[in-house]
Amino acid sequence: MSLKFASESQNARILSVGAYRPPRVVPNSEIIGRIDSTDEWIQQRTGIQTRHIADSSQSLVDMATIAAEQAITRAGLTASDIDAVIFATISYPYQAPSAATEILIRIGNTKAAAFDISAACAGFCYGVGIANDMVRNKTANNVLVIGAEKLSDFTDPDDRATAFIFADGAGAVVIGKSQDVGIGPTIWGASAETREAILLEPSYLDYKNNPGKTDLGWPNISQQGQTVFRWAVYEIAPIALKALTAAGLSVDQLAAFIPHQANERIIDSLAKSMKLPDTVAIARDIRTTGNTSAASIPLAMDALLAQRPDLHGQSALLVGFGAGLVYAGQVVELPPAPKI
Ligand code: UT7
Repeated sequence: MSLKFASESQNARILSVGAYRPPRVVPNSEIIGRIDSTDEWIQQRTGIQTRHIADSSQSLVDMATIAAEQAITRAGLTASDIDAVIFATISYPYQAPSAATEILIRIGNTKAAAFDISAACAGFCYGVGIANDMVRNKTANNVLVIGAEKLSDFTDPDDRATAFIFADGAGAVVIGKSQDVGIGPTIWGASAETREAILLEPSYLDYKNNPGKTDLGWPNISQQGQTVFRWAVYEIAPIALKALTAAGLSVDQLAAFIPHQANERIIDSLAKSMKLPDTVAIARDIRTTGNTSAASIPLAMDALLAQRPDLHGQSALLVGFGAGLVYAGQVVELPPAPKI
């Protein structure tokens, strides 16, 4: 039996990008005292010079709303044009209701579809892939994809393995209809056998099931840095190249590479393994933004377009990877220059 509806598809693209970085800039010198480190070590091992950290009065959703509203305005739309909100994050402190529904309240459109996804540093690319499928299949015409994190709430300032790397920020894109194909196939997957390499624990249930155990501590991210580093360096370049091939492009035809901003050494290693020519602009937002997990790719996209406005409308390869371990990548046409 076939159902009685027209099943033709439409093309999708990124219409706009918005970004928000909290105003407080934290240099390495403010972090090193508690973890017996140096500015030199952090810069050499990660590329990070400074990062933005939100203060206690500024929530994850406060930051995400500013990025989202900027993306909606830059797309020439209003909140009522948004059919669905996908919020990628690992730092929203509630299981339910979702952060995405809080965004609906903030932007003043309480009727759109809304849900969160937990795919850590790959979350934004997961969201772009899902939004692309939604627009292509006419499940939605305009989808707001947000990647935002307040990782400072879940990072132990005394943990030598994480305190220097994670930071706060929010990015958002609107994905909508397009005449041409503006988003290539998403290549995604997991290496779940290594899921313990990055953890955010203890969980709510650890507290409930261990009454009286007072030394469980606050839920913080822990990371086996070298394990994740090696996985990223060896596994992610072939995934990124697969996304490029799936979009029908070669490295020479690519204008920009915007990988997850985890560590500048990982970015360099990916670019080298993929043999990217010098003509490809590489996002290095990590230097002044740190690792903002789900927010890092839209933040890096916004920063790259601000530095290189000629890249508006050009092709960019995105690839996200992180806790799970999970990954996702796709080629996108960067958004056009905003009219406003
Ligand atoms: O975003 C989600 C995905 N996450 C990632 O992709 C992160 C991937 N991992 C990394 O980026 C890196 O592993 C880190 C930047 C986290 C750590 O860098 P590393 O080069 O892997 O450091 P390491 O743990 O191998 O330690 C190397 C040395 C050790 O000293 P010895 O044994 O060689 O004398 C450590 O004791 O650096 C020392 N060290 C530090 N020194 C100063 C470790 N942490 C620090 C520190 N400050 N914070």
